[in-house]
Amino acid sequence: MANYETITVEKRNSVAILTINRPDKLNSLNTKVHEEGVNALDELRNDNEVRVLVITGAGEKSFIAGADISEFAERTPVTQRNTFYQRTLFNSIDAFPKPVIAMVNGFCLGGGNELALACDLRICSPNAKFSQPEINLGLMPGGGGTQRLTRLVGEGRSMEIMLTGDMIDAETAYNFGLVNHVYEAGELEAKTLELANKIAEKAPIALQLCKEAVKFASRSNLDEGLRREVDLFAICFSTEDKTEGVAAFLEKRKPVFKGK
Ligand code: COA
Repeated sequence: MANYETITVEKRNSVAILTINRPDKLNSLNTKVHEEGVNALDELRNDNEVRVLVITGAGEKSFIAGADISEFAERTPVTQRNTFYQRTLFNSIDAFPKPVIAMVNGFCLGGGNELALACDLRICSPNAKFSQPEINLGLMPGGGGTQRLTRLVGEGRSMEIMLTGDMIDAETAYNFGLVNHVYEAGELEAKTLELANKIAEKAPIALQLCKEAVKFASRSNLDEGLRREVDLFAICFSTEDKTEGVAAFLEKRKPVFKGK
């Protein structure tokens, strides 16, 4: 992997851990984080050893406290629009073909929450705090929040979070379906890696196609979605992993999937 200034990337067997590493600024997302994150995801996408990606923030206090507000001061409508039409971490995560888990400790605010929403699964510790505080800056969410949060938790809850800018705690986030699990801070990493490793043992191509189908559910109508599912399911039948999975079941043994 390349060397980065604002992020670190560590590989633990089949799981890569990408850490946003600006703890003195609560891991807020500046242009450099987006650039480096996008480049790292390009590398990880093509790394066949990596089957699952975990994204987290450095330190105990914050996952990501949103966009770096200092960059907003000089921004015009045109530069802001160009920035978000360029390759952002939100878009790269959304398009990343392998499963992505957000491991959330502490503040998960604004663009941080939007980044977590672009991931496939969200796991947090009890000290996690979630919000879309843009409204307090005279802004609104711009990194996918209005669309992804609404699809995940429903319009009423999403409206309240965005119109008040208030933080919700981990328990509320869990009850809303915003996070999949809440684990004590001391076991957050171990539990997240346990889940990541479990997923990493599955057939990589089937995981990718499954992700594509699930994401299509909120971007299409039911008939289109069901047709897409039939096609993607059929593609699984072209893989060696499907042959291995079925054979292993019939032979009463554990399958070994190779991503072929
Ligand atoms: N952008 C830029 N810098 C940020 C930041 C952000 N989103 N969030 C925190 N920081 C910086 C602070 O400016 C401070 O830097 P400094 O030490 O150089 O002054 C440092 O991170 C620590 O933050 P601080 O505010 O001192 O911590 P706190 O515990 O008192 O408050 C928060 C924590 C998260 C409540 C507060 O930092 C905050 O409201 N941040 C902005 C959140 C936000 O609105 N995000 C959405 C942006 S669209």
